[in-house]
Amino acid sequence: MANQIAKPATGKLGIMVVGLGAVSTTFITGVLMARKGLAKPVGSTTQYDKIRVGRGADKKYLKVNEIVSMPSLNDIEFAAWDVYPANAYESAINAEVLKEKDINPVKDELLAIKPLKAGFDKNYAKRLDGDNVKDVKTRWEMAEAIREDIRNFKAEKGVERIVVLWAASTEIYVAPNMAVHGTLAALEQAMKDNDTANIAPSMCYAYAALMEDAPFVMGAPNTTVDIPAMWELAEKKQLPIAGKDFKTGQTLVKSGFAPIIGTRMLGLNGWFSTNILGNRDGLVLDEPANFRTKEVSKLSTLESILVAEKQPDLYTDYYHKVRINYYPPRNDNKEGWDNIDIFGWMGYPMQIKINFLCRDSILAAPLCLDLCLLIDLAHRAGRWGTQRFLSFFLKSPQHDYTQDEVPVNHLFQQYVMLKNAIREMGGYEADEEID
Ligand SMILES: NC(=O)c1ccc[n+]([C@@H]2O[C@H](COP(=O)([O-])OP(=O)(O)OC[C@H]3O[C@@H](n4cnc5c(N)ncnc54)[C@H](O)[C@@H]3O)[C@@H](O)[C@H]2O)c1
Repeated sequence: MANQIAKPATGKLGIMVVGLGAVSTTFITGVLMARKGLAKPVGSTTQYDKIRVGRGADKKYLKVNEIVSMPSLNDIEFAAWDVYPANAYESAINAEVLKEKDINPVKDELLAIKPLKAGFDKNYAKRLDGDNVKDVKTRWEMAEAIREDIRNFKAEKGVERIVVLWAASTEIYVAPNMAVHGTLAALEQAMKDNDTANIAPSMCYAYAALMEDAPFVMGAPNTTVDIPAMWELAEKKQLPIAGKDFKTGQTLVKSGFAPIIGTRMLGLNGWFSTNILGNRDGLVLDEPANFRTKEVSKLSTLESILVAEKQPDLYTDYYHKVRINYYPPRNDNKEGWDNIDIFGWMGYPMQIKINFLCRDSILAAPLCLDLCLLIDLAHRAGRWGTQRFLSFFLKSPQHDYTQDEVPVNHLFQQYVMLKNAIREMGGYEADEEID
């Protein structure tokens, strides 16, 4: 992977979002409101963080756009695909995340974002029932139609660069199958053969994005770009990819809290996480096959922070369970409970309880912005393949499992990786000084 200073962010950046639901409309509305000066992009690293560059007497703390060239929020153009025909305004209202007073000032811009027809297969999300769907016969045709959408958007809006972000529903779990997902040639053949069991619609979006020179971010836990065939395509096209699954509520807490246990050499007997959620995401995840994808993603966090092989006395056989319960009255306001059974000196047990009353889409929206802006930055810096420095924003960071590579889930190690990548892309030295 090349290590070079990022090219300037000239012209407009097109962000094409797959899914126009709660997360994406909260993201888009927030960006439109922020650029009118009517809301603050709270939670966004690219808009707020100040990162140290230099050391000793030379050190300074700079905002990301003072370290590297970044587009302003005014330079962004949006487009979206969805299974339902509701425009971004209707969808933002339906999602009930934001109050009308925080949507209406940008109503005209939201009304103009009408979803493109989705590349969709109901078998991948049984609970969805929209008809704004592409009429295609094979997965190959699906990808071709999405490629056409990307080219049309580029031409119509005159954007210089495009990023494609998946913020659509979690698909059913597709286990990596090396006969199909192992090489680009096999993947393309399977798309042409319309192998619907192994080629998820999300793979058609990712394939289309990369073929059209657009970096791709996977915000759900889908395996999509987490397969060798996509790594090969990203390398061939010299494009960055990132995934999977926005790290928002409970997993953010987990990856930030587990280091307390791990660094103080306390033991763990069990960690039970459960939550209630009532939005459409919760509805889709109520389907066991869709929940399975999420479960695989959520479970991976702890095991790489508190590792039995490294500390057998402390972390052997702890019981880790994650549950999501669909509960409509709460809508997007998720409530999570964590019960952590730890043990200390001479094995004496203790308990920690965390009750997080969060707002799912409010936590996810800044991650959408940061992931899109930073993967575009990586592209301008000539980086390609899986962008490990973006793990900070992701629940289940992509890693080369064919080589037994272990992902970094520890929030503060991820933060060091993020800051160092930004420093390097701005021409500064990477380091691990204490800030
Ligand atoms: N909100 C969070 O904190 C959070 C955290 C991690 C991951 N996520 C993931 O982000 C995604 C979006 O969450 P949300 O709350 O906005 O869900 P949502 O149900 O409100 O929106 C998803 C939208 O995607 C659309 N869709 C589904 N399949 C599609 C396809 N093939 N093409 C185009 N559109 C499609 C649906 O019609 C729906 O409108 C989910 O996968 C969720 O698991 C959310």
